[in-house]
Amino acid sequence: MKDFIAIFDSGIGGLTVYAKVKEMLPNENIVYLADTLNCPYGTKSMNEIHNITVANINYLKKMGAKLIIIACNTATSSIVKEIEEAGGYLQGVIKPTAILAKKTTINQKIGLFATNLTVSSKVYEKYLEGIKVYSEGCSEFVPLIETGDFSSPIMKSLINKHLEAVKEVDTLILGCTHFPYIKDSILEQRPDLMIVESGVATTNEAIKYLVGHNLINEKNNPQYVFLTTSKVEIACKQLDILKVDFDEVKHINID
Ligand code: DGL
Repeated sequence: MKDFIAIFDSGIGGLTVYAKVKEMLPNENIVYLADTLNCPYGTKSMNEIHNITVANINYLKKMGAKLIIIACNTATSSIVKEIEEAGGYLQGVIKPTAILAKKTTINQKIGLFATNLTVSSKVYEKYLEGIKVYSEGCSEFVPLIETGDFSSPIMKSLINKHLEAVKEVDTLILGCTHFPYIKDSILEQRPDLMIVESGVATTNEAIKYLVGHNLINEKNNPQYVFLTTSKVEIACKQLDILKVDFDEVKHINID
């Protein structure tokens, strides 16, 4: 495919960002890469995730992506320096999400639900200076969400446990792109929370880059391709549950 935006995540989480990119940039071809073979990312070492992230980026670059959106907080946290040096060609999710959260909070107390690795990286804190941040490593949500569990009793009791630690906050960052799927289950227990997610804020940054580099497609009949490093049947089952359609679903190997 020519003239496309690439988006990747460890699995289906990045589809929460993909949905906004598709909505806000309706004429763009999109290649979505789900690195399900390596999912979950959030319980691996920083070194391992850095290597996996670089390999994914190189693969998508070689395919010819005009912009790469790293729709994964964990991968973003492993590659902050490279993102800053890439001048917009690589878009991470953490900075735009943190800036939005800073604008949202009234009491200057923000909760962060993210993977264990994202929490341990402290990258969010870097962009949230002056704010009291309550971070919770919630990696155990990820495999449940991958199987389509957004609201089972197990999921709800895990959410309840983590909400205990963010009692004082008025704003909660969903610092893992898988977590918007459980937003309703979170709000059921804490309807007072202002929830901040990555989709719109990240897409706005992507649009700035595309406009600045004259790369926006004004007219197009866009194509959407889903690549998976795992089995196509697993991907199709997940896409079915989420009711998301792609023109093509393909298996790939990334070395
Ligand atoms: N969706 C991812 C994130 O935003 C990673 C989940 C995982 O694989 O642990 O961090």
